Amino acid sequence: MPFEPKQFIEDAVAQIKRTVRIGKTIIAVSGGVDSTVTAVLMNEALGKKCVAVFVDTGFMRKGEPESMRELAGRINMNLRFIDAKKKFYSSLKGVKEPERKRKIIGGLFIKTFEKIAKEEKAKFLGQGTLAPDWIESGTGMRATIKSHHNVGGLPSGMKLRLVEPVRELYKDEVRKVGKELGLPDNICNRQPFPGPGLAIRIVGEATPEKVEVVREACAIVEEELEQAAARGEMELPWQYFAVLLPSRSVGVLGDKRAYGYTVAVRAVYSVDGMTAQYARIPDNILESISNRITRELKEDVNRVVYDITSKPPACIEWE
Ligand code: XMP
Repeated sequence: MPFEPKQFIEDAVAQIKRTVRIGKTIIAVSGGVDSTVTAVLMNEALGKKCVAVFVDTGFMRKGEPESMRELAGRINMNLRFIDAKKKFYSSLKGVKEPERKRKIIGGLFIKTFEKIAKEEKAKFLGQGTLAPDWIESGTGMRATIKSHHNVGGLPSGMKLRLVEPVRELYKDEVRKVGKELGLPDNICNRQPFPGPGLAIRIVGEATPEKVEVVREACAIVEEELEQAAARGEMELPWQYFAVLLPSRSVGVLGDKRAYGYTVAVRAVYSVDGMTAQYARIPDNILESISNRITRELKEDVNRVVYDITSKPPACIEWE
């Protein structure tokens, strides 16, 4: 039977109402499609009894906090917006090792969220768990390549009862539900984004200054590839972004010597992120990405390289 998003929404809202009779539900939203669809379904079912929490770690994509605020206002969602940028930046000061960065960010996120849950006296926790999340993690066969942090993966030790309205769905279905709920395309079709955010797209220490650089570089890569795909010049990759490398190299800025950072562009085709092939981006598009990055970020970046490694052996993210 084909998937019917309209029917799914009706059933999910009714089911949430049956599950959450008394008490408040909180849900961490990140701007990604899974947590946003979950929050909108819970908002429809519970109204003010549902509190969506957006923790701005400072490592979000360009425009993400603003678009979450805008959406919450438009659909009358009870949103608590926590500006935790300073806390996250200071906790990563001097930290270069990727696993330590991941653990610090994940730990601080949970601490921040737990505090809000307590303040709200929440009894339920909404999660945007999808079918592949529990099917894959149920096997117990996967070795830890890196510590994943996901706002949908908060610890069950929080003693909150879970509400997971999209747990039987796959990504393409959750996107259809999002469309049916009237969510904008930039949320419904959003590419995957790691929980630790831009912090793991800066190789080495993630200083606030470097975060601004990589945020802008990622936005340029997104814009250029999305426009090229819309013009029919290439198929949109599964994931595409920029990484700021710690190495610097010699260049020329005006008539002066420059010593700037290097940005690596990463774009891959994949089905589920477990394996990936690097995308063959046409030369003219790579060139305009390189031109824009070195022009718009000229004080910081003077070299752009393209990552032509598939997974395995390389992971999609660099850290
Ligand atoms: P890797 O780098 O492991 O990435 O090849 C596979 C996919 O997972 C995403 N990713 C994460 N997603 N929390 C997440 O929710 C994380 O900590 C995390 N780390 C990587 C990555 O962007 C890619 O889509």
